[in-house]
Amino acid sequence: MLAETKEKVDREEEGHEGLTRRKLLVGAGSLAVGAVTSAGVLGINPGTALSKEDVTIVVNDKPLSGVPATVVKGVTTAPVRPVAESLGAQVEWIKESKTVKITSKAAGTAPIANQVPEWPWPYKKLDPEVVRKLGYENYFKGGCMFGTASALLLTLSKEVGFPYTTIPIDIYKYGAGGAAGWGTLCGSLNGASQVINMITKDFSKVINELIGWYTEFPFPSAKHESYCKIKNQITTVAKSPLCHASITKWARAAGAKVKGADKDDRCAKVSGDVAARTVELLNSLVDGKFIAAYKASDEFAHCLKCHDGGQFGPDQLGKMNCTSCHDDHTKK
Ligand code: HEC
Ligand code: HEC
Repeated sequence: MLAETKEKVDREEEGHEGLTRRKLLVGAGSLAVGAVTSAGVLGINPGTALSKEDVTIVVNDKPLSGVPATVVKGVTTAPVRPVAESLGAQVEWIKESKTVKITSKAAGTAPIANQVPEWPWPYKKLDPEVVRKLGYENYFKGGCMFGTASALLLTLSKEVGFPYTTIPIDIYKYGAGGAAGWGTLCGSLNGASQVINMITKDFSKVINELIGWYTEFPFPSAKHESYCKIKNQITTVAKSPLCHASITKWARAAGAKVKGADKDDRCAKVSGDVAARTVELLNSLVDGKFIAAYKASDEFAHCLKCHDGGQFGPDQLGKMNCTSCHDDHTKK
């Protein structure tokens, strides 16, 4: 149980009734103490005359008082909670599974619950294909926002660890169907954007690029063919970041139901594709190779000239393709 404890054991013979007093010194590098086998270190043969010994635990030069520790048959045993907490870790007892959960950033620091990690959080380049597949798989556990965000977070938890490990991924379930089925912002975009915002102060430019790309991309990509349930699905371009437009257009083109296995497989692939694209963008950002490539298409770029806060449209807000909802009154 104890992996890295640098333990030094002082044996001080006290000379009464074979009871020995020991000091167990726990250094700054150690994380938790459950049972420490000192026999190997000391060269004591377990099961010899030393049947029970009292032990003093010293953490970072301070003895822990009131912590009963003993050596029984060569195994040093101490209560987990006071020892772990003295090292700045958090201890939870999970009754159902009889588990002691110890969470620590580093020994000797304040408990994690009291730390607000500085923003933005650290990023390490990820493999787009790893998150693409995980995004696809996790869609089936909680919808598109969950699929995309959890693929990114769980991979970050694996590659970076803290503080990503502190986020309960179930918080991303609300985004399914464009927020509780309302068909507004595609949940995959919603989830990816939140993760992007955790990672970079340049979140707006990265999110702008991601959403712009989404509106023009023929979903779903063919990169899931080796593991997906339904192969060779037809693709459509949403021209919109709205779940409503994205799904409805596709479902009609595919002759599929909005509540059905075909649509689920398509949206699972979208979850993976958006997660993968997010990683590509973040990777390019850390490499200093990020390019803002997205531009409004010819279909509506001219609308923005007049309506984007300009002379004729000071009250119009948004970057979505106008022609998916309005007629082009300049072409009559
Ligand atoms: C040359 C400038 C110009 C361009 C380009 C332009 N508009 Fe307009 N638009 C106007 C003006 C002027 C009005 C009338 C005043 C108003 O309602 O803001 C107007 C009105 C509108 C209105 C509200 C009035 C209505 O009932 O039609 C909509 C919606 C609109 N435009 C959408 C668009 C879209 C979509 C495009 C691009 C496909 C576009 N406009 C391109 C200048 C422009
Ligand atoms: C997702 C659909 C959608 C998109 C995309 C969209 N609009 Fe609209 N727009 C609406 C709706 C809905 C209204 C409110 C219409 C109403 O209630 O009369 C509106 C209102 C407007 C109005 C005011 C019209 C009025 O009569 O009050 C203007 C101007 C306008 N939009 C311009 C634009 C422009 C320019 C773009 C592109 C940058 C755009 N819209 C994109 C749906 C959309």
